[in-house]
This record gives sequence, structure tokens and C-alpha cells, in this order.
Amino acid sequence: MKVLVIGGGAREHALCRSLSQDPAVSELHCAPGNAGIAQLAAVHPVDQLDGTAVTGLARELAADLVVVGPEAPLVAGVADPLRAAGIPVFGPSAEAARLEGSKAFAKDVMAAAGVPTARSYVCTTPEEAAEALDAFGAPHVVKDDGLAAGKGVVVTADRTAALAHAAGCDRVVIEEYLDGPEVSLFAITDGTTVLPLQPAQDFKRALDGDAGPNTGGMGAYSPLPWAPPGLVQEVLDTVLQPTVDELRRRGTPFSGLLYAGLALTSRGTRVIEFNARFGDPETQVVLARLRTPLAGVLLAAANGTLADLEPLRWSDEAAVTVVVAAEGYPAAPRTGDVIEGLAEAEADGTAWVLHAGTRADEQGRVVSAGGRVLSVTATGKDLAQARERAYEGVAGIRLAGSQHRTDIALKAAAR
Ligand code: AMP
Ligand code: GLY
Repeated sequence: MKVLVIGGGAREHALCRSLSQDPAVSELHCAPGNAGIAQLAAVHPVDQLDGTAVTGLARELAADLVVVGPEAPLVAGVADPLRAAGIPVFGPSAEAARLEGSKAFAKDVMAAAGVPTARSYVCTTPEEAAEALDAFGAPHVVKDDGLAAGKGVVVTADRTAALAHAAGCDRVVIEEYLDGPEVSLFAITDGTTVLPLQPAQDFKRALDGDAGPNTGGMGAYSPLPWAPPGLVQEVLDTVLQPTVDELRRRGTPFSGLLYAGLALTSRGTRVIEFNARFGDPETQVVLARLRTPLAGVLLAAANGTLADLEPLRWSDEAAVTVVVAAEGYPAAPRTGDVIEGLAEAEADGTAWVLHAGTRADEQGRVVSAGGRVLSVTATGKDLAQARERAYEGVAGIRLAGSQHRTDIALKAAAR
């Protein structure tokens, strides 16, 4: 099978790593890729937001499957011309990807499907925003309606800051604050059948102890030893299946990866957000534990044959990933610095590096090219061992000014 992956972050590197280990995959391509992906796949300098160019590349390569990784091309509708050309594609249509692309749309789908989520108001003026903030009280949750790379949400006790964020967006969703731990649960779906993966937890704040600003995610681990045993089935029954059924009912079936960001509150499980693609960095730990070869699962989703698939097989091992970010991330990341120690980080064979914001310079050196530069992932017999191995890998990386959290999976491993 010839597979083309669209994107160039750590998520796509993790996807390429799993696909490269799948004996069914004869050729692996990625556009645009990054310096790490280039070691596993043929990379192509194609604009990932250009559906015509992506479809042209898939045709030229005679790809049997195209996997669209990031939200930007999905929301821009890159999957649509591929589907129209009869090419199997893993990733939702533009219509279905609105589940991530518009928070107001997601709220509407959840209301129609009876999915539990925070009560909310959609506001377009400062007056409406002020009224909504006062209706719920502090802490305030203000979300930009559109895509914002994990930076569109402000959670604050400061009413002035909440109003200022609302004023900076055209349309905001203001909602009640959800307490309780967060869980990311991914499901692969063909629009009818829904196959949940294993839950993971992401660390969204920049600094240790969940301090600092929201980011795209600074690390993740799986499994969650503290999660209630029936969680996956509950979320399948109350969130994932009803959402997929509602989108099919509307004539815009969701096919691809449905990501439920959940809060386990004192009043029950609630959806914080939906994403229309694999989460980053949770994918690094979820795929590290998946034993079923990946390509066949993604192809079955693309072809609408998930119901025929054998149950997924999972490793009993734990996995931890730690993101190494550039100095100044998330506000103003510094780029262009040489990254050293990539081989040392993988030297003992228990950890591996997945590139996010990297590129090769003229001299063939790997240099930083984005806020989240790379992540180091490891597995182990339990979270404590996986953590130890991941942090040993991080210690090998040398990047001027770089930052990482030191407490990824710390509490869960100490249980
Ligand atoms: P989102 O982009 O919607 O995932 O929001 C980013 C982060 O903001 C989430 O992971 C939560 O930590 C936080 N957040 C979002 N919505 C809420 C809410 N209703 N209550 C509490 N925290 C929230
Ligand atoms: N890890 C959060 C996200 O992928 O949106």
C-alpha cells in the first residue's frame, strides 16, 4: 500500500513512524514533512492547504491512502477534492471538520445529539460578552469561535482580561467553567462505526504545576491509571456515537479521527472540545501502545469498512512523551537554532525523537523552525519507567534556550 501523509508536525512524524513499521505499507510519502519525517518517508514540498496540489500529488504517486493530519487543511477542505477524485482519504470533509473549526457549530451538534458539555453562549458584541460572563461568574472561559492552534481559549478569574479576549475575536463562545481532570479520547470512525482508542492525558499549560499560558500541549501519557474503568464505553455511548450519528443524519458524515477533549467533573463527564484529527502530543503516546498495524485501520475508516475490522490490540506498556519547545513559546518562539544530541537522545534504544518545528539547513544540520520543536517519547513497564526513559532522552537534546515541563505524568506515575 502506498500512503501519503499530509502535514509536518510531531503528530505526522508519529503517524509516519507507525506506518513505516506496518508491513502492509510499501511506500511512504509526506507533504510537506519535516527534518525527522524525511528519514522515514519521501517528503514533497507541497502546500498542505492547497487541495488541488495535494490531489495532484496523490494522483502522481498513485497513493492508495491519503492521511490528512492537521486541522488547518481539514478545515480548509483538503479532503474533499481527494474524495471527489476517488482516492481513499483518512480525514473528514470541510463540512464535518467544522466540529473543530467552529466552536459554535460544535455546541449546536452537541445540543442536537444530547451530548453533555458546558452550558454556553455565542457572543458577537462586548455587551453580549459582558452579560454572558456575569451569567456564569468566575472563573471565566472565553473561546475564539475559529481555529487558533490551541491559543484561542482564555480561562481566567479576571473579568477585564476575559472581556479583552472577547473583544479581540469576531465571535466568541463564553461558557461555564468545568472542574475536574481532563482526558483526551480519540476514536476512529467511518461515519457509522466508531472505534475508540485508548485514553491519554495532555498537559496544556506551558509551565510545571499547570502554570503559565495555554499551549498546543507540552506532554502526554497513556494509560490513565486513575480513570474510572467504564470511561471509554461511557464516552462511546454518550459522546462519540451520538455525535457521529448526528453528523450522518445531517448528511455530512464524519469520517476520520474524532477527538473528544473531556472534563471529568463532579457532575459527570463533559465535552470541553472536539477536534477533527489526532491530538498532538497525545498521538505520540497512543500510537506507541497500538499493536494493530495502523494502515489497515485508517484505510478501513476511509473505505467505510470499520465494522469488519478485528478488535484493536494494545500493548500493556505505558507511554510518556515530553515536548521540547523553543525559548519564548508560546508567545514569540525563537527559531533558527541548531539542535544537537538527537542521536544521543535515542542512544539507549528506549526513547525516540519525533520532530515538530524542525528543518534541515543548507549544511544539513537540523535547526529549530517552530514553537514546539520536537518531542521525546518512550514506553516502559509502567508510567514511572516510561517517564524516566523519556526524560533521559530529553536530557540528551541540546537546543539553545529550549524549555520543557519536568512534571509530565509525575502525579499519575506516583500512584
Ligand atoms: P480547548 O481549546 O477548548 O481545548 O481549550 C483549551 C483548554 O482550556 C482546555 O484543555 C482546558 O484546560 C481549558 N478549558 C476549555 N474550556 C474549559 C471550561 N469550560 N472549563 C474549564 N477549562 C476549560
Ligand atoms: N493536544 C491538544 C490538541 O491536539 O489539540
